[in-house]
Amino acid sequence: MGTALFLLDGGMRSFAKSIELYDRTRRHLAGGVSSNVRYASTPVPLFFARGEGARLHDVDGNVHIDYVLGNGPVILGHAPRLVIEAVAASLGEGQLFAAQHPRETELAERLCRLLPSAEVVRFATSGTEAVLMAMRLARAFTGRTKIVKFEGHYHGWSDQAYISARPPLNEAGPADAPVPVAGSPGMPASVLEDVVVAGWNDLDLLAKAFDRNKGETAAVIMEPVMVNGGAIPPLPGYLHGVRDLCHTHGALFICDEVITGFRVGLGGAQARFGISADLSVYAKAVAAGFPLAMVAGRRDVMDTLLDKGVMHGGTYNGNVQSMAAALAALDVLEAGGGAVYRAMEARGKQLMEGLAALGARHRLPMLVQGLPTIFQTFFTRDAPPKNYRESAACDRDMALAFHSALQEEGVRVNQQAKWFLSAAHDEPVIAETLAAADRAMAKLA
Ligand SMILES: Cc1ncc(COP(=O)(O)O)c(C=O)c1O
Repeated sequence: MGTALFLLDGGMRSFAKSIELYDRTRRHLAGGVSSNVRYASTPVPLFFARGEGARLHDVDGNVHIDYVLGNGPVILGHAPRLVIEAVAASLGEGQLFAAQHPRETELAERLCRLLPSAEVVRFATSGTEAVLMAMRLARAFTGRTKIVKFEGHYHGWSDQAYISARPPLNEAGPADAPVPVAGSPGMPASVLEDVVVAGWNDLDLLAKAFDRNKGETAAVIMEPVMVNGGAIPPLPGYLHGVRDLCHTHGALFICDEVITGFRVGLGGAQARFGISADLSVYAKAVAAGFPLAMVAGRRDVMDTLLDKGVMHGGTYNGNVQSMAAALAALDVLEAGGGAVYRAMEARGKQLMEGLAALGARHRLPMLVQGLPTIFQTFFTRDAPPKNYRESAACDRDMALAFHSALQEEGVRVNQQAKWFLSAAHDEPVIAETLAAADRAMAKLA
């Protein structure tokens, strides 16, 4: 495969071993990756040997300050000592019993204390399946079929949810009544009948969607901060307006906090914005990198699992190591009344402001938007995007070029130029990042 050097204006980082390994891997691992999201890397999907704190070491010996952080879970940095020790100590106890384990009791109690909307939780393994459970619960509870979701919001790759997550605008229909767009070949067209797609951050559009589907809507699901479609916060009052509309129309409000949960604060986006959903989905940061997801919510809705026999299964749910990891992660995240979050917020703010100042100094049309622990750098001369269509109109080529220039300077962000922060990103790391971003922007400018 091609050249062993990935050069950007004289860049010198070699990715020869990653290229060689990728060539070898894709002979026996379909596409050479275990998730399609990982194709989005240059010059090939990179191979990493290890992670430590804020840094990743790739197989070519390059060191990257990592702002991808496993796409969100790595909230305490790579290989966080206390979590690793807790998991290591649990390994000898066994992994799976197809039965209960006392750590599940402890973790469930703790989560219900921490999360504003959790009267009861149920553990799963991935965000995708936890979303499926939440949608099934809403349908069983309300006796209705349709789910309203928003353009640009990603709720996992299932047939039922991978709809209009990143639709091409020429297929997406009018902004005030978007057409549901299947995200992948192989999805049956029938799934589109049960999903209503609306534009986000606009209560009138949601009210119209309810009116068009009177008495049929089981739930509205959303990312409370639209991270996947651009790290865009909700407009003031929007989340409360959505919840009120849901309840007026007899539908449930589902917050998908797979990314925001335990990231934008201990109580997630709901605590941050002072709202409580009927059902919430969490995953990613809750176990600091170990596989754990859950649905949390109102007791009367969650009770349909038992009362109505709503099916939810999963061989790996509640496994010993994920429970141990989550309990240890919460020990760190809760310590000192949330000291870790205060520090992350301060450093994230410093990084956002620093990047914005550099963008202005290099005369780049750059915009930094989001929250301190998850934000995105956009290239646009327009006002900050408020929804998917506006975010999709930003300059994607510039974002890609910025991603590549940063990689060349030893800073890893995803290809949308999204930045996740961890507790391991301390002041020296932020300073190093800003110096690297300065050099990267000089190349772009
Ligand atoms: C908001 C949101 N929901 C659901 C999912 C799916 O989670 P998983 O990848 O664990 O299946 C993701 C994954 O990125 C996500 O960002």
